[in-house]
Amino acid sequence: MEYVSACAPGKINLALRVGQRRPDGFHDLDTVFEAVDIFDDVQVYAADGLSLSVTGLGADLPTDSSNIVIRAAKLLQERFGVRGGAKIELTKRIPVAGGMAGGSADAAAALTALNELWELGLSASELRALGAELGSDVPFALLGGIAHGTGRGEKLTALRPGALHGWVILANPEGLSTPEVFRAFDRQQYGPECRAQFPGAQNTGADRPADTKELRRAVQGEDLAAVGAQMKNDLLRPALSLRPDLADIFRKIGDEGYGSILSGSGASVAVLVSAQRLHTHTADLRRRFPGLRVFSAAGPAAGAHIKRSR
Ligand code: C5P
Repeated sequence: MEYVSACAPGKINLALRVGQRRPDGFHDLDTVFEAVDIFDDVQVYAADGLSLSVTGLGADLPTDSSNIVIRAAKLLQERFGVRGGAKIELTKRIPVAGGMAGGSADAAAALTALNELWELGLSASELRALGAELGSDVPFALLGGIAHGTGRGEKLTALRPGALHGWVILANPEGLSTPEVFRAFDRQQYGPECRAQFPGAQNTGADRPADTKELRRAVQGEDLAAVGAQMKNDLLRPALSLRPDLADIFRKIGDEGYGSILSGSGASVAVLVSAQRLHTHTADLRRRFPGLRVFSAAGPAAGAHIKRSR
C-alpha cells in the first residue's frame, strides 16, 4: 500500500455525568456520545521516517511527538515492530479545544489509516483498545454512532438511534483546556446554585436523574424534546467558572431548538434542532452570534473509516 486516506468524526456529549476523581487522575464518567458529521481527515503515504503536516483549523498545532497523531503512529510502530514510516497529512475541520474531541478523532483516523498502510490487520476492537491508550475519547471516535460511555469514557455500548439529530454548533474562537476544566470540577461541589447563578443556562438543574438512563431511552426514540430535556453536562459549572462569558451564549440561545448543551469540556455549545429545520436555525443563530463560528452538523455519524487507498 502506498497511500491511504481515512476520516473520523467529532462528537457531542448529549450528557456528561462526572463522578469522583480516581487514583489515576481520571474521572469516572457516565456519558452518551453522539458522533456528528464533521470529520477530520488524514492521508498517509509510505515513507522512511514519521512526519506530520496540518492544514485547516489548528494549522498552528505542534507536529512533533507531542501531537496525538504522531503518538498513535509510534504506538503502532513500537507495538507491532513496524519498520517503515509514514508521511501524514492532517486536515482539520473539528474545532480545536472545542470539547468535540478533535484530537481524538485525529488519533482514530491515524490508527485506521496506518493499520491499512502498514497492513497490520488489526480488528475494530483491537484498534479501540489501542485508542484507549492514547486518549479517553479515541475509542468512541473509532466506533461512531451513539454510544453509552463509562469508565473514563473508553468503555462503550452502542445505542440504536431513534432519529436523526440536527445540531447547530457555536464554536468559540477561544477554546478551553480539558484538564483545566476537570481541575475546576474538582474544586467545586456540584450544586443547584448553578441555575440560580446562570438563569439562561439550560439543563443544569439538580432535578435530573443522576445517571443517563432516561437519556439512553430517549435517544432510542423519535422525540427530540425528550432528548433535549435529558441533556446535562456536569462540566458546565466548572467551565463557566473559567469562562463566565459562556453564560451569555446560553442566555442568548434561550429556548431555541430542543435544548442546548456545552459540548464535552467546552468551549463549543451545541443546540439540538430537528434535522429538517437545521438550515433555518443555523441561519438564525449565525445572525445572533456574529462573533462565533456557527455551523450545522447532523448526527449520528459514522466512526473512523477508510476513504481511499492505493
Ligand atoms: O484521556 P484524555 O487525554 O483525553 O484526557 C485529557 C485530560 O482530561 C486528562 O488528563 C484528565 O485531566 C481529564 N480527564 C479526566 N477524566 C476523564 C477524561 C479526561 O479527568 N474521564
